[in-house]
Amino acid sequence: MLKQLDEIKSKAIDELSGISDIKALEDWRVRYLGKKSTLTQVLRGLATLPAEQRKGVGVSANEVKVLLEAALARKRKELKEEELARVLERRGIDVTLPGRPIPLGRLHITTQILQEICATFAAMGFQVVEGPEVEWDYYNFEALNIPRDHPARDMWSTFWIDYQNERGERPMLLRTHTSPMQIRVMEKTRPPVRVVVPGKCYRYEATDATHETMLHQVEGLAVDENITLADLKGTLYEFARRLFGAERRVRFRCDYFPFVEPGVEMAIDCFVCGGAGCRLCGNTGWIEIMGAGMVHPDVLRRVDYDPDVYTGFAFGMGVERIAMLRHGIEDIRFFYSNDLRFLRQF
Ligand code: DAH
Repeated sequence: MLKQLDEIKSKAIDELSGISDIKALEDWRVRYLGKKSTLTQVLRGLATLPAEQRKGVGVSANEVKVLLEAALARKRKELKEEELARVLERRGIDVTLPGRPIPLGRLHITTQILQEICATFAAMGFQVVEGPEVEWDYYNFEALNIPRDHPARDMWSTFWIDYQNERGERPMLLRTHTSPMQIRVMEKTRPPVRVVVPGKCYRYEATDATHETMLHQVEGLAVDENITLADLKGTLYEFARRLFGAERRVRFRCDYFPFVEPGVEMAIDCFVCGGAGCRLCGNTGWIEIMGAGMVHPDVLRRVDYDPDVYTGFAFGMGVERIAMLRHGIEDIRFFYSNDLRFLRQF
């Protein structure tokens, strides 16, 4: 019987090598490993063998079975690969060619800088909040100490919304800055307040290399007991160092904004020439990056904060301007004209 098993094995392996299609392989399997195959008969008949033969025959039969099954699996894989290769060849597909990369989207340069600015202030304890782009005159101007006939309104050319109230006024507009959110935040909360407000603003202006009708700002506001100009300077200095580099110097000069007193303009030393004077800084060595100041007592009164108890500072910066300085972008109109050659650089 052992001899018979040996014959089965060599015959099966021999036949297998001549097989070249799946159908013939299946016939082979039925013949040598199927229910009616000699091998299966031998394995089934083990029980009827005398005890002294049983073990030897059993072990050999199983060995042959395992060996044939393994050979079958190998052959099947081989045939399938050959088949696939034929199909690919017929269709002219070359699987060894490198794949085509899938184009990935990315964040717009403005979004990147906005997120960076907000994260910097968030790390310093400021909360990030957002507000409406369609605003009331009251929040955009009136409550910020800019009454109807105040000449300071000329600082912001305004897109008015075509809507009249019953008094014949047009009190609705596209916000010209993010400062109205100072009022909205203070109306809703009591001190201490520490917020930054990122968002879109709109200006009714002719566009040129440094002016767009839509731009982004980040506003900041901190109100509490005992806040002084020193807190403003310390906070904004730290911000400039974190965003523009640890060796940055800053300069504060007086400026006028109706909702702060005193008002300042903050500049950093030019990171291109280090203060020596170059094209970027217009040969001054300094780059102005934001307006700021101590919240005007009248503004605090407006939202029912007692100016004898609370003081605060506020600031506002243009996001595109900061991106332009950072990356040496010469024309703000690149930002929203959707030229992928520009956008892909960031
Ligand atoms: N809102 C001002 C602008 O649009 C910028 C600004 C100046 C914001 C002084 C402030 C501030 O909060 O205190 O030009």
